[in-house]
Amino acid sequence: MTVYRKLLPTDLRAYRDHLLRLSSNDRYSRFCGFKTDESIAVHCQGIDWRFTIMVGCFVRGELRAVAELRTEPKVWPGEGELAVSVERDFQNQGLGSGVVRRILTVARNRAIRRLVLICLIGNRRMQAVVRKFLGKLDSEHGEVTGRIELPWPSQMSLLQEALDSGSAVVDGVLDQWRAGPSDPVSAVA
Ligand SMILES: CC(C)(COP(=O)(O)OP(=O)(O)OC[C@H]1O[C@@H](n2cnc3c(N)ncnc32)[C@H](O)[C@@H]1OP(=O)(O)O)[C@@H](O)C(=O)NCCC(=O)NCCS
Repeated sequence: MTVYRKLLPTDLRAYRDHLLRLSSNDRYSRFCGFKTDESIAVHCQGIDWRFTIMVGCFVRGELRAVAELRTEPKVWPGEGELAVSVERDFQNQGLGSGVVRRILTVARNRAIRRLVLICLIGNRRMQAVVRKFLGKLDSEHGEVTGRIELPWPSQMSLLQEALDSGSAVVDGVLDQWRAGPSDPVSAVA
């Protein structure tokens, strides 16, 4: 079963393991540059949870896709930088769009008005996802910058976030039931 939810500091290890599972090409695409296992660990340790929002997609309990939004309210008020990662076997199945759609709702409800995403010029799939959410793309020096403008929060966007959070709880419980009695930890949790 597929469960989308916001990530918490307790998900840090799952996030690090997800990034470490990316293929070397995807790792390069995600960070627009080479990253060793150690630098991925440093990246995760450096997350400031006060200013970072993450939405993850769990497939059968394993974190397979993440949208990470970093903000710097003092330096760039109302703006954030978005990055997305989906593991190879799960790409092109809508998970990337799923985490982006949800994080846009959360960002909008935090009065973030513009998201910026940088990807490689050949990363057509990421660019398709940005376009899907009405983002604009500009290319320069081998990289593409996507910008997605967000409206102010509305009753509908607040309701959408509440529905997303509610579905995450229900889907999480159903997922544990489906794990069945052969998994004693899941059965009692
Ligand atoms: C880029 C990435 C996040 C996209 O996530 P995903 O789950 O594979 O994407 P989705 O399935 O949600 O959507 C892919 C879209 O690209 C389109 N697409 C796929 N291949 C394409 C191609 N070669 N050219 C143009 N569009 C393409 C699909 O049709 C789909 O659009 P649609 O939903 O309108 O039909 C994912 O592939 C990934 O993690 N790549 C490695 C890391 C990375 O590149 N991160 C981006 C930089 S931060």
